[in-house]
Amino acid sequence: MLINLNNVLEKFQNEIEQTKTLDDLNRIKGKYIGRKGQLNELFKEITQLSSDEKKDWGKKINHLKGLIDNQLQEKLKELTQTLKTSIKVDISLPGKKPWVGSFHPIQLTLHQILTIFQSLGFRIESGPEIESEYYNFEALNFPPDHPARDAQDSFFLDKEYLLRTHTSPAQIRIMQKIQPPFKVVVPGKCFRRDAMDASHSPMFHQVEGLVVAETISMGDLKGTIEVFAQRFFGNDRQLRFRPSFFPFTEPSAEVDISCGLCQGKGCRSCGQSGWLEIMGAGLVHPKVFEAAGYNPNQVRGFAFGMGIDRAALLKFGIPDIRWLFENDMSLIEQFHAIQ
Ligand code: PHE
Repeated sequence: MLINLNNVLEKFQNEIEQTKTLDDLNRIKGKYIGRKGQLNELFKEITQLSSDEKKDWGKKINHLKGLIDNQLQEKLKELTQTLKTSIKVDISLPGKKPWVGSFHPIQLTLHQILTIFQSLGFRIESGPEIESEYYNFEALNFPPDHPARDAQDSFFLDKEYLLRTHTSPAQIRIMQKIQPPFKVVVPGKCFRRDAMDASHSPMFHQVEGLVVAETISMGDLKGTIEVFAQRFFGNDRQLRFRPSFFPFTEPSAEVDISCGLCQGKGCRSCGQSGWLEIMGAGLVHPKVFEAAGYNPNQVRGFAFGMGIDRAALLKFGIPDIRWLFENDMSLIEQFHAIQ
């Protein structure tokens, strides 16, 4: 046994002298003093000895274990020291830039639009994406079976509730909550049963605007939209108000902006017309005031509803609305700079 112990120590010392890596050192540690290591084997062997002998050998093995442990610690210090000094750092190399997230083009566009309206005194409100048929249609003067409902083919959840097809139901909710005069904008997601193509998506974003006061005219609407369009699209763009129809506004208009690509001459992106539609608008219909609990003889208002996704396409020169929802990082990441 005695010989055995000296042998073990000698072999250990030979091995540790040649050790150059932390991996080797760990392996040696396991081999000698690990759970299944040689020293534990020796402890097992002495269980058959008499109790005096057991004590004696136990001490000796423990002593050996102490020696081995010390040398392992020494070697560990030595190896880490050489490792540290051998790593050369070139402090002139550029650092690693952490990945920084950025806003989605739709959020950037929305933020710009809302900031402009805030600067004009509008406050931001919200409405639910799941709406009742009453708020989405009826209170906005779309009677049941009115053909105007067809233009907004809807996702119904049951007989009563649907995913809102526009942000206009928020008009009623706001008027039920607060008294005029006020100016609000309501951004949010809308849903229609449109097939996805380069300019349509079944989920899209709108910003609703609603201004109610004692006296409001078409002139207030035009002035507000003109200031907005100049700030958002630039001073060089023309605006055009076309007569249109919405059940909840009277008179109603569709607002177009001159195409920025062809300067109004006509190109593929504006369907050769030189104009791009940016919103629907009009003066609030008396029936809408009634539904909201206002006296239509005492208040006037204007409202507009603008598509955000198309505004984002125009703003950033993105040719296809589907690109906005594909989560392709090579597109999304390009908007880092524009924050
Ligand atoms: N809600 C209409 C739409 O989605 C737009 C609109 C809003 C028109 C407000 C007039 C007034 O088509």
